[in-house]
Amino acid sequence: MKQVLLERYGQPEEGLRCADVPDVGPPDAGEVVFEVLAFPINPADVSFCRGSYRLKPPLPATPGAECVGRVTAVGAGVTHVRPGDLVINLQRENWAQQRRVKGDDVIAVSAGVDIQQAAMLRINPPTALLLLSDVVALKPGDWVIQNVANSAVGRLVIRLAKPRGVKTINVVRRESLFGELTALGADACVVDGPDLAEAVKVRTHGAPVRLGLDAVSGRATARLSACLAEGGVVCNYGSMTGEDPVMSRNALISGGQTLVGFILGRALGTRSLEQVRAIYADLGQQIAKGNLSAPVETVYPIEDIKEAVAHAQRAERSGKILVAPNGPV
Ligand SMILES: NC(=O)c1ccc[n+]([C@@H]2O[C@H](COP(=O)([O-])OP(=O)(O)OC[C@H]3O[C@@H](n4cnc5c(N)ncnc54)[C@H](OP(=O)(O)O)[C@@H]3O)[C@@H](O)[C@H]2O)c1
Repeated sequence: MKQVLLERYGQPEEGLRCADVPDVGPPDAGEVVFEVLAFPINPADVSFCRGSYRLKPPLPATPGAECVGRVTAVGAGVTHVRPGDLVINLQRENWAQQRRVKGDDVIAVSAGVDIQQAAMLRINPPTALLLLSDVVALKPGDWVIQNVANSAVGRLVIRLAKPRGVKTINVVRRESLFGELTALGADACVVDGPDLAEAVKVRTHGAPVRLGLDAVSGRATARLSACLAEGGVVCNYGSMTGEDPVMSRNALISGGQTLVGFILGRALGTRSLEQVRAIYADLGQQIAKGNLSAPVETVYPIEDIKEAVAHAQRAERSGKILVAPNGPV
């Protein structure tokens, strides 16, 4: 089978190779074997390849924090999935044609779901959901501000905030996105810049903003914090600049603001396996109904992993870059 190997940390497309390796073999008791139908290339995968992610295993290593697959065999004692079922995998190393994993690590998704969307179910939808529920107790009518609003997570935050009555201010790098995000349910859109706080005040008519979701870091964190009310919370969950978040002393000391961090693994780790499965069941249904989605720009074969990873690093994409290791999806 084919498997992506990272052989050198650094510029991702230079360190990656699509290799021929032995098949994974039949499942042992309690294991599941599935063929990988599709995986996205997420910012965290790119920083894994660069060697700047929190996990930095010895090389060669196989990247890939998520995927969707079709079960081909199950070992003795596995009852929650069967051959033919679509599954997502809670473990990593998914940039390959086949996986053999512990049964508890796979979660079934409904048969009718769009394969490309299911490939992106594991990380961004629960991240958006839990950013809205675990950081600040938001009530209908509350305002939240977020940057990278046109990212997959940002779009999901807009969609998930709407039925909760939570209003979103969406910070992007270009005005041409306003129409698209407004159609998704954005209450306000603004272009990032030194006057962000003034622009936000105009759009919200001065209403207090309680939560800021930041995945840019650097000075962008301080610009988001400047939009928050006294006692507001900035939640940093990513760094598209590669920098650490910066907050002014004034916001922290006089403004009583708090800077907190979020990572999905820790948020899910506070929940039981049943609760985690329930979250994915609900999000999977919403994806199957078309309520939640992330746009896709291009799908590559696994042999073209270098091109796919280079493409995933371009600015102003219209959607995610996916790879389909076992043929078009
Ligand atoms: N902590 C967690 O558990 C967790 C979980 C999931 C995702 N994340 C983080 O969430 C963020 C979004 O992930 P995603 O998969 O939704 O991303 P995505 O769909 O691949 O989109 C990337 C976004 O980043 C923006 N961007 C790129 N470079 C930038 C820069 N230098 N300054 C400002 N914006 C920049 C892009 O804007 P343009 O369109 O303008 O290029 C685009 O909106 C990432 O930082 C990711 O690591 C964190």
